[in-house]
Amino acid sequence: MGMKDQILLLLKENRGNWVSGESVSEKMAISRSAIWKHVRKLKGEGYLIESSPKKGYLLRESPSALLPGEIQDGLETAFLGRRGIIYFEEVCSTNQKAKELAAEGAPQGTLVICEKQTEGRGRRGRYWFSPWQEGIYLSFILRPNISPIETSKITLLTAVAVAETLLSLTRLSVVLKWPNDILVKGKKVAGILAEISTDMDVVNYVVIGLGLNVNTSEFPEDIRARATSIFMETGERFSRIRILQECLRVFESYYEMFERRAFAPVLDRYRELSDMVGRRGLVETIDGSYTGTVEGIDADGVLLFSDGEGERRRVLSGDLNFI
Ligand code: BTN
Repeated sequence: MGMKDQILLLLKENRGNWVSGESVSEKMAISRSAIWKHVRKLKGEGYLIESSPKKGYLLRESPSALLPGEIQDGLETAFLGRRGIIYFEEVCSTNQKAKELAAEGAPQGTLVICEKQTEGRGRRGRYWFSPWQEGIYLSFILRPNISPIETSKITLLTAVAVAETLLSLTRLSVVLKWPNDILVKGKKVAGILAEISTDMDVVNYVVIGLGLNVNTSEFPEDIRARATSIFMETGERFSRIRILQECLRVFESYYEMFERRAFAPVLDRYRELSDMVGRRGLVETIDGSYTGTVEGIDADGVLLFSDGEGERRRVLSGDLNFI
């Protein structure tokens, strides 16, 4: 841990109380002017620190930015965000960055996070609205020992983790729509973009991208009717860091089940949280579009869909819209 982070830790341990320059100087064995330089940097990062020549330093408030140190402080995960958090104030797309890092050999658990995306991407070439400090835009790297076909299960698993987080922290009633939409009152509050690199039948890496509209107060015209945020639904602003930490913690607990091949409870939870069985819909796949009735999802997370002429289709990947 660098000097700046050690000073921050000391101020956090004494949050709300003054810490004298003398005691910091003694503990860290650095000069008073060096302390001052580090404190100035912390202030530049958004920490509200009071300083007084007589009393020393007092940490009043941490920044709302998703700084790696703030994410790690209170993070209850074993590997997610533990092996590197790559932070950007602004970036094209966290999925893009995570894929580049994964290709360079970054380990499982590496987390890429930002305050704003200029080219945030959704599934099927859509864009993801990513305004400055309003939402959570993150991607992480996984290196599961699975066949490529199983990757879609990780998308479902992530959706369940996000839904559980929203249920426990915001009490919103969330509904999952196969495969990657998290909805509140029919509008999208979060989406997942899983991207995969394979070699023959081996998965090199999976990048899971999550966009979660936390405090977003307005959406562009073209998506306004379909998008929402926690703030717009509750009228309350939420701590992005708290939501993010909980999402990662819950994801990890489900991922651990997935790795143990104990996926059934996760699927059951997905089924409970989605209300699609018996509803009529349009499924768009790369092989074509079909209208019919949703029958459910099978043990592999594949959508079961009957097309009205007695034919049952298994849809591994596609887009479902209710009609
Ligand atoms: C979808 O619903 O179509 C998926 C949306 C995924 C958006 C997130 S935001 C962070 C990550 N980076 C991206 O470019 N996309 C994902």
